[in-house]
Amino acid sequence: LWANVPAGPPDPILGVSEAFKADPSPKKINLGVGAYRDENGKPYVLPSVKKAETILLANKVNKEYAPITGEPEFTKLAARLAYGEASTPLNENRIAVTQSISGTGALRVGGAFIARHYPRENRRIIYLPKPSWGNHTPLFRDSGLEVRGYRYFDKDTVGLDFKGLKEDLKDAPEGSIVLLHACAHNPTGIDPTPEQWKEISEIVKEKELFPFFDMAYQGFASGSPDKDAFAVRHFVSEGHQIALAQSFAKNMGLYGERVGAFSLVTGSPEERAKVDSQVKIVVRPMYSNPPIHGARIVSTILSTPDLHRQWEQEVKGMADRIISMREKLYDALTKDFATPGEWGHIKSQIGMFSFTGLTQPQTKALAEKASIYMTADGRISMAGLNSSNVQYFAESVHKAVTG
Ligand code: LMR
Repeated sequence: LWANVPAGPPDPILGVSEAFKADPSPKKINLGVGAYRDENGKPYVLPSVKKAETILLANKVNKEYAPITGEPEFTKLAARLAYGEASTPLNENRIAVTQSISGTGALRVGGAFIARHYPRENRRIIYLPKPSWGNHTPLFRDSGLEVRGYRYFDKDTVGLDFKGLKEDLKDAPEGSIVLLHACAHNPTGIDPTPEQWKEISEIVKEKELFPFFDMAYQGFASGSPDKDAFAVRHFVSEGHQIALAQSFAKNMGLYGERVGAFSLVTGSPEERAKVDSQVKIVVRPMYSNPPIHGARIVSTILSTPDLHRQWEQEVKGMADRIISMREKLYDALTKDFATPGEWGHIKSQIGMFSFTGLTQPQTKALAEKASIYMTADGRISMAGLNSSNVQYFAESVHKAVTG
C-alpha cells in the first residue's frame, strides 16, 4: 500500500542528533540541536523547575483537561513575562493568548489562524529572514502561507545586512507578514541593535506589514528577560498589533514538556474575545487542548516571587556560561592554534548559537574525522561546549580549516 511513498530526508537539525547517537566515539560532541548542556555536558534541569515540581506534587493537582486555549493562569503569566507588567494592551485586556505545544506549536497555531483570518486575503505572504530557523519554512507553508525571504545575514562582515533587510522590507507588498526573531536570532546569533529595531518598526508601520515575532530565547540572549523583550515591547508601544510565539523550552529548560504560547494583540476586548473563539476552532481539531504539567511548572515559577527570582538567576547562569564558552573558543582558535580566518563573530554573536562560517565540506569532515556534529550550515550550539571539550573542538576546527 505504501510502497510508493518516497523516503524523506532526515531533519536538518534533529537528524544531527540521530547521527551523533549512532557514533561510538568517546570524544564525540553534539553541537547540532539547540539544547542547553551544563559544564559536564549533561542536560540541565533548572533547580527552580525541580522546586516547582515539588510544590505541584505536594498540592496533589489533578489531571483534568486544560481548556482549549490552555491554563488561564499560565497564559496570563506568560503574556506578562513577554509584554511586561506595564503593557497597555495587556492591561486593557486586548491580547488573545493561547497555550501552545512550545514555540513550534505557537507558530503553527498562529500561522493557521492568520491563513484563515488575516483580512488581507492577497497578502498571506510571510517574509522570513535569510537564513531563518530551518523549521520556519515548512511550518508556515503547512499552515497555508506563502513563504518568501528578506536579506538578513551578510557573509562578508559575518554581521547583519541591515541595508538589504531594509530594502527587502520596503519592497515587500504592502500588508505582507514579516517574521522577526525577537532576540538571539537562530541560526546566526546576530540581532539588530535597539536603534535598528526602531527603524525596522518604522518601515513595518509605513508598509503596513504585519509583524509576527518568534521569541524562543527570552532571557537566554542577555541573561535578562526584560532586556531580551525589547523589540517586542518597542513594537507594541509603537502601536503595532503584533503576533507573538513564545517558548519555555530554552529559558526554563522545559524542552520535552512542550510549553509555549501564541498571542495576538487586538484592538479591543471585544475583538480579543472574537479572536479567542476562533483560535479555539483552530486548536480543537489539531490537538484538543494542550498538556498541563509544563504549564503548571511555568505558572508556579512565575507566580512565586522567590522562585521567579531564582529562575532569573538560573537563566542568567546559562547565558553567562555560554558567553564564557564563546571567549574560550575564540581564544583557543586565535591564540592556541592561530587558525586562519576572522573569528571575532564567535564573541559578538548572541544566544545559543554561533554561525561559524564553516563550510559544508568542513562540517562533513568534522563529523567524519572528529565525531563533531553540527548542522550543515555551520551553526554550532554553543551550549554543547564545555571546559573539557572546547580545546578538542578548536583543534578539530583548525584541522578542518587548514585541510
Ligand atoms: C534548534 O534550532 O536547534 C532548536 O530550536 C530545536 C529545534 O526544534 O530545532
